[in-house]
Amino acid sequence: MSDTPELALPQKENWSSKLGVVLAVAGSAVGLGNFLRFPGQAANHGGGAFMIPYVISFIVLGIPIAWCEWTMGRMGGRLGQNSAPGIMYALWRKAPAKAVGAMTLLIPVTIYMYYVLLEAWCLDYCIEFIKGGFADSFSKATATIAEGGTEVEAIVGTTDSYFNTTWGRGDHGALFHGGRTIWLVLGCFLVNFYIIYQGVTRGIEIFCKWAMPALILCALIILLRVLTLDNISIGLGFMWNPQWAELGNPKVWLAASGQIFFSLSVGFGLILCYSSYVRSNEDVVLTSLSASSANEFCEVILGGMIVVPTAFLFLGAESATAGTFGLGFVTVPAIMHFMPGGNFFGAMWFGLLFLAAVTSSLSMLQPAIAFLEDGFGLRRRSSVTILGIITALGALPVMYFSRESVALDHTDFWCNLMMIVAATCQVLIFGWIIGAKRGVAEMNYGADFKVPRFVAFVIRFVTPTFLIVVLVMWAWTNLPSYWHGMNPEYKALEARRTAYVAAIEEHFATEELTEEQLEEKAVSLLGPEGAPIVAASLPEWLRPEEAEADEASAAAAEDASIARFVFLGILVFYILLWVLSDLACRYRIKPMIERAENAGINSGAQI
Ligand code: ALA
Repeated sequence: MSDTPELALPQKENWSSKLGVVLAVAGSAVGLGNFLRFPGQAANHGGGAFMIPYVISFIVLGIPIAWCEWTMGRMGGRLGQNSAPGIMYALWRKAPAKAVGAMTLLIPVTIYMYYVLLEAWCLDYCIEFIKGGFADSFSKATATIAEGGTEVEAIVGTTDSYFNTTWGRGDHGALFHGGRTIWLVLGCFLVNFYIIYQGVTRGIEIFCKWAMPALILCALIILLRVLTLDNISIGLGFMWNPQWAELGNPKVWLAASGQIFFSLSVGFGLILCYSSYVRSNEDVVLTSLSASSANEFCEVILGGMIVVPTAFLFLGAESATAGTFGLGFVTVPAIMHFMPGGNFFGAMWFGLLFLAAVTSSLSMLQPAIAFLEDGFGLRRRSSVTILGIITALGALPVMYFSRESVALDHTDFWCNLMMIVAATCQVLIFGWIIGAKRGVAEMNYGADFKVPRFVAFVIRFVTPTFLIVVLVMWAWTNLPSYWHGMNPEYKALEARRTAYVAAIEEHFATEELTEEQLEEKAVSLLGPEGAPIVAASLPEWLRPEEAEADEASAAAAEDASIARFVFLGILVFYILLWVLSDLACRYRIKPMIERAENAGINSGAQI
């Protein structure tokens, strides 16, 4: 007892109100995942039937993991820790805690490196609608509809080409050849870092307190417009009619659990960090449930009833089932041409997406700021500067390697994997290291609504089992192709073969061959799969395809090298963070925790 509690820990910030923390955590959760990712996932994975694995994942994964994170965050916060490595180490003074902490820190920072780009996309589209740029392009497109073409094709073609050219999806480096994109990304960086620099209460909390109601109000206005459209029930039926057969497909279950992770922002340290700023007797049970419910309202009601139903109504099934980006940045702007008041609603929609994205990206930065401050004693100005440089260095390659969003997709892939791994580690630490019973008792401390006892059993056994099943299934379905995808020789061969097979298919189109017959033809002409194709031994009619095959294989090899670069980049970053976590824990965090404990402060509520 050498120190008084006040001297044992440095002064720290707390959320100024319960509403503030709920809105900040809800703001972290409500993002592009709710308004763009969710409708795409649901429409492509069984419509209404998707809600079954989704709700199960919400109950078995989302709510328990969020409660664990809230509780662990509050416990770490009592010992003055706000960063994942500090919190993990405060709860488990062993080396693996630092590894888990480093991974939990890595995920949000890495996601930020591409999320900020999506944020800039939203801002760009909002500006374009306000300027009337889309309206001009749409009237030009409709005036020149080619013979036999439809208005829908012309409009979707316009938004598709806007998306591809403005965002450099056609070629690497395109974003650096002029245009406003680069400035918008810079602007988004400045907005984020300015708010973060203001601090948790004066920055994040104040921003979320007005941004969240504003974006929900905008979404409600748009929903009202959508629900009063003629025949909207057809679109709602398309979105929500259940296709029960899809439930037998493991991919649907994986998609649902992945959506819960991404959308609720659970498992990747955001809640851990935010909850470490609550007061030590703050109710974490209801606060967590309120933030999760706000997220679900925005996701299922607002996200689920706007985009896909209108897309189906105006543009048809193909546009309504495009992937997340296609849906968000090609389909939605096209819808606005057909919707009365589309220009106004388009600007409002992308404006609300921008706000939703900023409230989420702030929560991706704060954990690293907390780490630099707690772990290395840096002042806010230095932490913000260092993190700004690191995230800019990460965002640059994501922006540069923009063809088909290749770098962005690969970064997202590894982040998704790490999210499940980190969540599994956190739940295991809560259930087995802290102890589920003790953990749940701690969770209930200060809570108006007490978590029932069986939740301890769920956290100890059910959630980790579910997570491990998801992890294994996910790895099984995705990892082999990704592993091959990082091998330039393999990808080059594969792309070359695909180009020739397409030509063979075209050549024999009139014979209506079955898949097997085509495969036999391909083997007889090109050799066995995986073997190099010798151009000189190809028949005359296949020779002209060589240039195209060369081009396809060069592009595929390049993509594979980028995939490898992304993987190695994330790996090196992880190792670096691990080393830094180790140093921080040894030289600052451990002494800080010990000082606090000597002064009688404890991570638990001593219940
Ligand atoms: N939860 C955030 C989103 O949905 C990351 O976008």
